[in-house]
Formats: sequence, C-alpha cells, structure tokens
Amino acid sequence: MKKICIIGASGKLGQYMIQHALDLDYSIVAVCRKQSVEKLESFKKRITILPGDTNDREVTKEAVKDCSSVLTVLVPWGMKHYASGTAQAVLDYAPPEARLVFSCGWHISRDGQDNYSIKHNILVAIIGFLGRFFRIVDINDQVDACRRIFSSNALWTVVRGSDLEEGPSQGLPVWSRHVGDPILASNLTRRVDFALFMVHALTNDELIQEAPAIVGRQSPSALNYTEKNNATLRHTGKGSVP
Ligand SMILES: NC(=O)c1ccc[n+]([C@@H]2O[C@H](COP(=O)([O-])OP(=O)(O)OC[C@H]3O[C@@H](n4cnc5c(N)ncnc54)[C@H](OP(=O)(O)O)[C@@H]3O)[C@@H](O)[C@H]2O)c1
Repeated sequence: MKKICIIGASGKLGQYMIQHALDLDYSIVAVCRKQSVEKLESFKKRITILPGDTNDREVTKEAVKDCSSVLTVLVPWGMKHYASGTAQAVLDYAPPEARLVFSCGWHISRDGQDNYSIKHNILVAIIGFLGRFFRIVDINDQVDACRRIFSSNALWTVVRGSDLEEGPSQGLPVWSRHVGDPILASNLTRRVDFALFMVHALTNDELIQEAPAIVGRQSPSALNYTEKNNATLRHTGKGSVP
C-alpha cells in the first residue's frame, strides 16, 4: 500500500481528498491544525493524524518522510506566511522522488500568459486589499508559495481551481494551461471533483511541472468544447474525444 501525506486535511478540500485516497487504498498521513483534529473524527480509524500548523517545519518533516506523494492545500490565511511556509517545508522535506500536488486558485499564473477577465482582476484586487488591511488574508503569500514551487526541480503539479460549488461528483474535471482558454469559460467546478483531480494528478506524469487550470467536466464550456472537437473529428473521420 502506498503511503501519501495530505497537508491541510481537515478543510473541505482536504476531507474530499482523504475519501478519494481511501477509495484508492492509499495509506494516509494527515496534517491539520490542532483545533481541527475533531473534524477528522469519521476518518480517525483509517488514517494517521499529525496535529500541527501546516507551516510547522518539524510537523511537515515528520509527516512526509517515507511518503511517495504529498497533497497540499495551499491557503493564504493570516499574515504569517502560512502558504509559503507550508510549500517550502514540503519542498525541503519530501523525498526527492515524491510526487507533490498543491492546490490554489486561478489567480496564480505560472508564465504570465493567463488572460483574466476584468471582473476577476477587480475581485482579486479587492480581496487582496481588504485581506491585507484587516490582516486576515495574504494573497501575495500564496503567489510567493507558488513561485517557490515553480522554480523547484521537484515532481510538482500546481492545480489551479476555478470558482467552487458543492454537489455530487461530475467526474474528473478537464483542464487547460491558461485561464482565458475557451474550455474554462464556465469557471465552476464541484469541490469534490477538485479533490478528485488532485488525487488523480499523483499518477498522471503528463501533469509533472504543470499548473493545470481546471473546470467541471459537465460545465457548459467543457461540454461545448468537447462537442465542437467531436464534430471536427467526425467531419475528418478521426473518431471522437472521450
Ligand atoms: N473557495 C474557493 O472558491 C476556491 C476557488 C479556487 C481555488 N480554491 C483553492 O482551494 C483550496 C481549498 O480552498 P477551500 O476554499 O475549499 O477551503 P477548505 O478546503 O475549506 O480549506 C481551508 C483550509 O484553510 C485552513 N484554514 C482556515 N483558516 C485558517 C487560518 N486562520 N490559518 C491557517 N489555516 C486556516 C483550514 O484548516 P482548518 O480545517 O484547520 O480550519 C483548511 O485546511 C485552496 O488551495 C484554495 O486556494 C478555493
């Protein structure tokens, strides 16, 4: 049984990832803040829980040792470099051959080629300003965390989530390299499927050192894109997109 670590396991995304990983028979070490351990009550007999702040380097060092993969929820909460501290600890202590998959939002850009809507830019600016003003959220720290990941030689994937909603799974989300690509236009993914993508990324080598931006498989833009491609392939006699 392969051992994986889930960092930030007690949040909504983290709990979905635990369930998906259990479904795939992974052995799981879960890290979450001390005050959140009770959120993992229903899993406690099936996983090992290490309580601690996710940017506590000693906790992370202990948690990731012997793991073949690490799933990390990167969150920009607080003004204490939580996201960058978490990312750096994972990069420093995970075994060099481990697959590392990190979560973030569309606002992270790997190569500056993303094409954001005006609404998106205004929202990020407002959240960034208010978050810093009230010292609740530091979006720049999540940007810094991803900059560190992008410049590392590790086997990383940074999964960039669209807006999220709850609801039953629609299957594995589709992805594209750049926000602004037509397939992503719907900007909506089920949170349970974001988690599914994170867990599946562990075994998809095509995603190594990629920063896929994802969208729900059943979202209108994904369906529209698939339909158009199938029509082209039918026209040219080359089959269909699965
Ligand atoms: N929400 C969205 O619409 C959205 C959209 C796109 C991408 N994302 C990405 O998806 C991931 C998960 O986001 P989510 O919104 O779904 O949240 P979530 O899964 O509920 O996770 C929130 C995480 O933040 C931790 N947290 C909460 N308050 C904290 C604090 N003050 N200090 C430190 N940690 C704190 C939680 O830990 P505890 O359990 O200990 O509280 C939990 O691990 C993130 O990487 C986010 O960037 C979210």
